[in-house]
Amino acid sequence: MDLHGSTVEFRNVKRTFGTVKALDDFSLTIKPGELVTLLGPSGCGKTTALRILAGIDKEHEGIVEIDGKDMSQVPANKRNIGMVFQAYSLFPNMTAIENVAYGLRVRGVDSHKRESRARELLDLVGLSTQADRRPTQLSGGQQQRVALARALAIEPSVLLLDEPLSALDAQVRAQLREEIRRIQSTIGISTLFVTHDQEEAMAISDRVGVMNKGVLEQIDEPGKLYNKPRTPFVAGFVGLTNYIPAVTESKSLVLVLSQSLEISDHSPAVKKGDEVRALIRPEEFEVQKADEGATVITKSFLGPVTRLGIDVGTPDLIYAEITSKEAKKIDTGDFVRLSISSDAVMIEHV
Ligand SMILES: Nc1ncnc2c1ncn2[C@@H]1O[C@H](COP(=O)(O)OP(=O)(O)O)[C@@H](O)[C@H]1O
Ligand SMILES: [Mg+2]
Repeated sequence: MDLHGSTVEFRNVKRTFGTVKALDDFSLTIKPGELVTLLGPSGCGKTTALRILAGIDKEHEGIVEIDGKDMSQVPANKRNIGMVFQAYSLFPNMTAIENVAYGLRVRGVDSHKRESRARELLDLVGLSTQADRRPTQLSGGQQQRVALARALAIEPSVLLLDEPLSALDAQVRAQLREEIRRIQSTIGISTLFVTHDQEEAMAISDRVGVMNKGVLEQIDEPGKLYNKPRTPFVAGFVGLTNYIPAVTESKSLVLVLSQSLEISDHSPAVKKGDEVRALIRPEEFEVQKADEGATVITKSFLGPVTRLGIDVGTPDLIYAEITSKEAKKIDTGDFVRLSISSDAVMIEHV
């Protein structure tokens, strides 16, 4: 199977429900064959964006185009979009292969072609031997594989995945997300994936768009999002971040844990003496054993790194991650000195 990747474009799309702005001036382009993920907390507008692209929700302002064609007059069933939902969306009274072939049957494809195509897709998702099972005879992960095969059977020009892994347990989730990525890039289908799980988003996407209250705050490659967040919300949502009470020393310097640091671009404007919060990632700390100072309260081994929860006298513990090798020298109850190794830190108003 080889699909041509379509271009998808949202331009200044707005959708409100009463006073809630579910999508606020939402603009996004998905390039041919690209996997873009919308990442954000529950209620931030992810599903709304998918529903609008699918044509299920037409009560919006702004423009949606697929391959340069305005979709406003195109009904949902003519948009040629494949969708996979969170879970349990298979037809319970049909076998796996009947589920996969369903869209083709609706489109009037003859039974012979239907069957061979459905088998090809079950093969693609690794379920060729389970073709005759009903959903109740399949695990959650297998059901989602069938749902993916069903979505792809109609040779859609765009694939939409709405938290397809959320109902699965951690191990299956990690495995299936790799599988989705492999299949997606093999067939080259333009894909919009939705999740609230930042690790999942980072793991499978070409680009990730972080959403907050209907606003797309930043869209970038995963590494860039992590290393160069453009807003405090993005910095806080992507990766674990400490929020440390701090005071500005000038427009460009901030005093954090007795250390004077440059304030990063993208931070809000401040003047001398403002009380702020500095956003510091766990890996930005260096931790040294000391005779007095902050106290190590928790120690969690995470594999190559170990996370220390440290009491520095602020309301919350500060989390620092150091290599597990370094962490051998440090135990809970020990005194440590913390220093921040980054050149510039992001701050936000309290
Ligand atoms: N049919 C609806 N009626 C009223 N409010 C809705 C409806 N659909 C979504 N919303 C609201 O719009 C916002 C965005 O919802 P949604 O797109 O489902 O978020 P997400 O998928 O990111 O969790 C939420 O505040 C939600 O309550
Ligand atoms: Mg949703």
